[in-house]
Amino acid sequence: MRALILLLAFGLAACAQRAPQDDSLYRALGERAGITRIVEGMLLNIAGDARIVRHFQDIDIERLRDKLVEQVCVEAGGPCTYTGDSMEESHKGQQLTPSDFNALVENLQDAMDAEGISVPAQNRLLARLAPMRGEVIDR
Ligand code: HEM
Repeated sequence: MRALILLLAFGLAACAQRAPQDDSLYRALGERAGITRIVEGMLLNIAGDARIVRHFQDIDIERLRDKLVEQVCVEAGGPCTYTGDSMEESHKGQQLTPSDFNALVENLQDAMDAEGISVPAQNRLLARLAPMRGEVIDR
């Protein structure tokens, strides 16, 4: 009995340590289906963007779509796992500039506008992506 109580006590302590997951941004983006539409919209916008489209011409675009959906889902607090390469690894050798980064963000914003995502929710996602800038540009 004592062992059982100890076991329960440890179990509860472990639960309490795990911070409650805030998935409000994930929900604001329309969960997995909405995030998929946003990512696909962004990639379509990029396809028509003469500033950066050359970077995306010889790659596996379906893989990129899938990894981006996973990553946005994780960053938004959703129940996903990112299985792609690190940001540094996947942008190495592309010599991306701050302008390239801004262009991609614009395409993402346009895709979110098209999905009717509120500006505060858009800004929350952009704030989650901003710290990755240094891992992506000048590599
Ligand atoms: C915060 C900004 C960015 C994020 C979060 C991001 C995210 C990602 C992710 C998740 C991948 C897939 C990694 C994998 O395949 O395992 C990827 C690959 C790629 N990214 Fe980005 N990216 C960003 C900025 C950019 C910019 C600015 C460009 C170019 C204008 C770019 C071009 C690419 C290309 C071409 C690939 C494919 C590389 C390959 O398959 O060889 N990314 N990115």
